[in-house]
Amino acid sequence: MEGDRPLIICKDKTFYLQTKNSSYIFRVTEHGHLEHIFYGTRLPVQPVDSLCLKRTAVYGSSVLYSQEDPTYCLDNMTLEWSGSGRGDYRHSPAEIRMPDGTFVSDFAYKHYVIKDGCPENCELPLARGVADECQTLIIDLEDPIARISLQLVYCVYMANDVITRRTILTNKSHKEIEVRKLMSLMLDLPDQRFRMTSLHGAWIREGQRQETRLPYGILVLESTTGASSNRQNPAFCLATEDATEDSGHVYGFNLVYSGNHYSAVQKSEQNLVRIMTGINPSGFSWTVKMGEVFSSPEAVLTFSSCGIGGMSRNFHDFINRHIVAPYWQGRNRPVLINSWETFMFDYNQRGLLNLARQASDLGIELFVLDDGWFGQRDHDKAGLGDYEVNRKKIPGGLKPFAEKLNNMGLQFGLWFEPEMINQDSDLYRTHPDFAVKIPGRKPLLGRNQLVLDLTREDVRDYIVTQVGDVLDSAPISYVKWDMNRHISDMYSPLLENQGEFFHRYILGLYEILKRIFLPRPEILLESCSSGGNRFDLGMLCFSPQIWTSDNTDPIERLRIQEGLSLFYPLSTMGAHVSASPHQQTLRTTSLATRFNAACFGCLGYELNLDQLSKQDKQEIKKQIECYKEQRALLQFGSFYRLRSDRTGQIQWQVISADKKNAVVALFQTVASSAPAFDRLYPQSLEPDQTYVLKSFERKLRIRRFGGLVNHISPVKIHPEGVVLRLADQFYSLPGCHETYTATGSQLMAGVMLKNAFNGTGYSEQIRMMGDFDSDIYLIKEVNEHDTKEKDDGKID
Ligand code: DGJ
Repeated sequence: MEGDRPLIICKDKTFYLQTKNSSYIFRVTEHGHLEHIFYGTRLPVQPVDSLCLKRTAVYGSSVLYSQEDPTYCLDNMTLEWSGSGRGDYRHSPAEIRMPDGTFVSDFAYKHYVIKDGCPENCELPLARGVADECQTLIIDLEDPIARISLQLVYCVYMANDVITRRTILTNKSHKEIEVRKLMSLMLDLPDQRFRMTSLHGAWIREGQRQETRLPYGILVLESTTGASSNRQNPAFCLATEDATEDSGHVYGFNLVYSGNHYSAVQKSEQNLVRIMTGINPSGFSWTVKMGEVFSSPEAVLTFSSCGIGGMSRNFHDFINRHIVAPYWQGRNRPVLINSWETFMFDYNQRGLLNLARQASDLGIELFVLDDGWFGQRDHDKAGLGDYEVNRKKIPGGLKPFAEKLNNMGLQFGLWFEPEMINQDSDLYRTHPDFAVKIPGRKPLLGRNQLVLDLTREDVRDYIVTQVGDVLDSAPISYVKWDMNRHISDMYSPLLENQGEFFHRYILGLYEILKRIFLPRPEILLESCSSGGNRFDLGMLCFSPQIWTSDNTDPIERLRIQEGLSLFYPLSTMGAHVSASPHQQTLRTTSLATRFNAACFGCLGYELNLDQLSKQDKQEIKKQIECYKEQRALLQFGSFYRLRSDRTGQIQWQVISADKKNAVVALFQTVASSAPAFDRLYPQSLEPDQTYVLKSFERKLRIRRFGGLVNHISPVKIHPEGVVLRLADQFYSLPGCHETYTATGSQLMAGVMLKNAFNGTGYSEQIRMMGDFDSDIYLIKEVNEHDTKEKDDGKID
């Protein structure tokens, strides 16, 4: 195999983009179009005759690009970019009203440039990479008749098997043009009986995995809410028919964008699959005057021959290294307590400090004061826009409050919803024009609020000053940036072309985030939009973590977090332990299961600690100790979805890069009677290395056994009675404990676990696995000396 560099090679008008394990090849045709040749497993740089689509027969009813060349029909070719109205009848990546008033465009190759490092910065967020990590190829195309030029920008990230793409249009003509659609990426691949996997969802049901076989015609994933939305995430993948979690060819796609997105996969009658992703053309129109430029957001693509799991890990590593802001790359995220589910809007300083004190005793590191701390924000009908602390709730103001927290050993974090305004607010009373609305039309409310017009510079300045002043007024280490409604009534008085509204809103948001957080890089930003309504790579460029969902039920979270893990790393997912029964599902789950799901992410607690028993608090203390020990692994380790829900069980694993440590979790969603033998399936361990695998201690609450306690109790106890409830506060039974020492190869062959409870009684040798139960197992590399110690039961 050749050396790693260069990553981009041009030979005989053929471009080879080489990553560690993949090759992406295209060439310039005799008519100046870019023909896609190959994307897949890494190949040496050599002539591509055997790879390319043949053009040896003439197709009936096709429109020829040139009469002299009867086989050259754009409709039957795999292209890197296609114009419109020139014989390619698949969807075009561009819809541009050209200087001549038509929508016909035809871009031909002019020249190329290769540069070290990533593309230059623009007003949109882009992945970041330095010269020894990536290389950029810029291909210049031009429609010579219209004098519109197009740059296709490719950046090759060697180590992650990732290529990014975006498109930059320049109007060199003497007339203004209108862009109605300009995709970031267009790619044609011959079909490999692809299955598309994507994420659909809703509020409290984000990240739901869905799989679709590609039909002839077009499949679209999109958002029209003004944000990337929880309905259809911009990320998706195409997997070959035989691909599994661990094997087969998979192509992954995502977009560094937080607004209305659009991804289309179109299968033609010739079995060619066209993939496009970019800004949603629905309602979009952008005026590009003479000499002006319009840039699309950056698309991200990856290829893996190691199945869907391989694709996920490519994306995870890429996001951790190249999307997340440099200060937070690989940096531990604090364990937090959030005030929302405990207090909502109803609190005072005493209550907050009481919660904080208990949190600090448990080992929590950051106290997040959620909604309700400012203006007249005693409910969700007032106050948004007025970020003046409410002195009734926090009499001394934020600084002394934060200092009190700091004295308890806690950092201080604060909630804002800066893009929104309540009509009942001082800001609205002074600046009603700041809100998005159409003259003569009653604006629609969402959660009783209007949207601020971020397309306006004065509004952006106001937000930057307001939020910035608060951040500088107290020691604030964390910000939760919320956004709780979809956008409607899109209009801004300052825009000549209202079709620009949505995109200008997002550009405005990015500008605000840059101005507030670039000068304050140490502040940890967690973005949120009623949970995961804006979970995308654009936001991740600013906020290293995102509040995954308002749904904290651990069983629901298994699906939500597992779905998102297809495309996003664990370090990006805020995951909290909340109260049981759960407030949205009424499901009762153990503290252990709530922690076991939440620890695969950025751990937090969001419940009233006053209402916990001593037992619960001891358990939480142990959970946090364990999390801190394994934190780097749980936030930044390589993630494996070992088993998915089909059998009622889910298994997840994280493993360190050096393969010395791993954590495996087994979740039972629904118990079955007469359960079969359970096995753990760790992966990616060093085959010849010796490891100890041991279960993390679990306590069994006696109340959950109900009337069964009478089998072991000397006195009769009522299962719903006060005695059992009281006893439950103080006593618990030890859960089953398991330890095995074996080589990686043996563990990977499957670890047979002790029997699960089947109704024949309790013992410490039986794993209590009812509905929603779970266990986690720690795997640690050991040397011979450690193994001997282990025999004395001392290994740790
Ligand atoms: C929606 C968020 O998702 C919640 O976590 C909380 O911050 C509320 N907004 C506060 O209004």
